[in-house]
Parts: sequence; structure tokens; C-alpha cells
Amino acid sequence: MLRFIARRGFTGKAAVGFCRETQAGFASMGGGRRLEGKVALITGGASGLGRATAHEFVHQGARVVIADIDAQLGPRVAAELAPHAKFVPCDVCVEQHVADAVDLAVAEYGKLDVMHNNAAFPGTLPPPGIADLDLDEFDRVMRVNVRGVVAGIKHAARVMAPAGSGSILCTGSVSGVMGGLGPHPYTVSKFAIPGIVKSAAAELCRSGVRVNCISPFAVATPLVVGQLAMFYPGVGRERIVEIVNGLGVLKGTRCEEADVAKAAAYLASDDAKFVTGHNLVVDGGFTCFKHLDLPMPDQLA
Ligand SMILES: NC(=O)c1ccc[n+]([C@@H]2O[C@H](COP(=O)([O-])OP(=O)(O)OC[C@H]3O[C@@H](n4cnc5c(N)ncnc54)[C@H](O)[C@@H]3O)[C@@H](O)[C@H]2O)c1
Repeated sequence: MLRFIARRGFTGKAAVGFCRETQAGFASMGGGRRLEGKVALITGGASGLGRATAHEFVHQGARVVIADIDAQLGPRVAAELAPHAKFVPCDVCVEQHVADAVDLAVAEYGKLDVMHNNAAFPGTLPPPGIADLDLDEFDRVMRVNVRGVVAGIKHAARVMAPAGSGSILCTGSVSGVMGGLGPHPYTVSKFAIPGIVKSAAAELCRSGVRVNCISPFAVATPLVVGQLAMFYPGVGRERIVEIVNGLGVLKGTRCEEADVAKAAAYLASDDAKFVTGHNLVVDGGFTCFKHLDLPMPDQLA
């Protein structure tokens, strides 16, 4: 684009202004800290993808509130990130806990720029067939994974909409893009996430608040390793991690916690200022295609 302007010989004020803006844009994509001065709240930030995202957010200049039901791991993660992080005990199923966590972020840091609704409960494994589904178990999963996310959006909107800006993130899953990748309750809960995001984005765009979700592929976090350990009784953690790491389709790489954390940092940042209602699928192409299992020509009779 700059070459195009030079060739056309634009030398006026407008061209100078455009160049400044462009340079600023390029700077934000380069070495600058994407979340400088921002305040973020991450539910489920005590472990796995939430913990990795808390680290990435602080690395990118944010101050972070880690809201988690785990009162042992949560303070440990906050200590790792001190003095840029605080822990607040929070069960996302309890609306008042979510409201209090949001209020704590505002009281402590003066505002809330980013709300990351990331906590989830996978349910049990091996999963029962649909004919044997325990609807109480279904309710438990939906309570954390759907109601908890809605509560997070509600209370983030309460403070972000009057401020006229903010970025709300929700963690979906590849299990919410294709059927058959997880137990029924978890799959149903994750299919709900892009819908909740679109519904909230439709309203909150009028207040300058963006709402997006990230749908990661399998990463060997405690959630996934714990589930597969039930599926493979007696099999060691290392072997389970190896199995998870071999599940992708993109040659030469695998989904890591940092890939998901960086996707979250992008959506949280002003680099994504025109992105809302989006589902950023971080799956190395896994849910994009299926291969036809065609016989080779020399295999035809
Ligand atoms: N790991 C994967 O392969 C994968 C893939 C796709 C999506 N996800 C999603 O990523 C998110 C994070 O999962 P993870 O893999 O990092 O798991 P994880 O178990 O490592 O972390 C989940 C965190 O959520 C917390 N939590 C659970 N219930 C809670 C509640 N009611 N209130 C507050 N906190 C609660 C846990 O204490 C834990 O710290 C989840 O939404 C999960 O569905 C994970």
C-alpha cells in the first residue's frame, strides 16, 4: 500500500496522516505489548488454558484477576504473576460470586477491559450413551459451562457497557463445532457458546463492547488428561499426553496452551477492535474437512 501511494505521488496532509496511522497499526502487530494498561478477569484461570492465558495477558502488559473455584492453585498462579495478578475465589455457578469478582476487579484496578469466561466442567467419562444420559449430570455441566458463561457476560456488560468499551471472551471447543468429539452434555454446552456470543454481541455492539469466543483443539491440560485417565485406567500421564499430542491433523505441530493464550490475547486487544461475534477456531484445520476414504486406482477390481 505504501508503495502504491509513493508511485501515485501523494504528498498532501491526507497521505501523511494515513502513513502515521498505518505505522501505528504495524507497531501494534510488532513487538509492542498488546494489553498494556488493560485489566482482565479470567474464570478458570488457576489451571490449563486459563493459567496460560493469565501468563500471556500479564506478559502483554495486563493486570489480571484470576477467578477460580480452586482455592489452592488459584493463589499459586496469582503469586507466579505477582504483583500483576490477584486471586478471587469464585464458583461461576453462583451468580453473586461472578458479580463480586467483577466488582473486585473494578475496585482494585479501577476498570474492567477484558472478561474471559473460561471455566468449564467436562462431566464424566466414559460418557453414557444418549439413551442412558443422566439429566442431573447434564444440568451440572450446563450450569458451569453455559449458565456460568452467561453470568460472566451479564456482569461484565454491567460495567463495560456504561464505560463504552470492553472485550468479552468465552472459551468454546472443537466439541462445539463438530458432533462426536466429547460426551453429550459437554458437546451441547460447547455448541451453545458461539450462540451466546452472537446473541450478546448483537446487543453489546451498540455499547462498544466486543464479544467473541475461542474454540481450541485438544491440549493436554489437567481437564483432558484427567478425563482420558478415566478412559485408560492404569495408563500413565506421559502416555496420555503423547496420545493427546498425536490427535491433530496439521503436520509438524500440535495445539499448545500458548496457541490458545495468544488467540485470546489477540481478541482481547485493540488489534481486534473490529472483530465481534466471532468464533476463532484454533484447531490446525481439524474441523474444516473430512477425507473421503477412496480406494486407490490400483485397488479397484
Ligand atoms: N484442554 C483442552 O483440550 C480444551 C479443548 C477445548 C476447549 N477447552 C476449554 O478450555 C477451558 C479451560 O479448560 P482446561 O483444559 O484449561 O481445563 P483445566 O481443568 O486445566 O482448567 C479449568 C479451570 O476451571 C476451573 N473451574 C471448574 N469449574 C469451575 C467453576 N464452577 N467455577 C470457577 N472455576 C471453575 C477449575 O478449577 C480449573 O482451574 C474450558 O472451557 C474447556 O472446556 C479445553
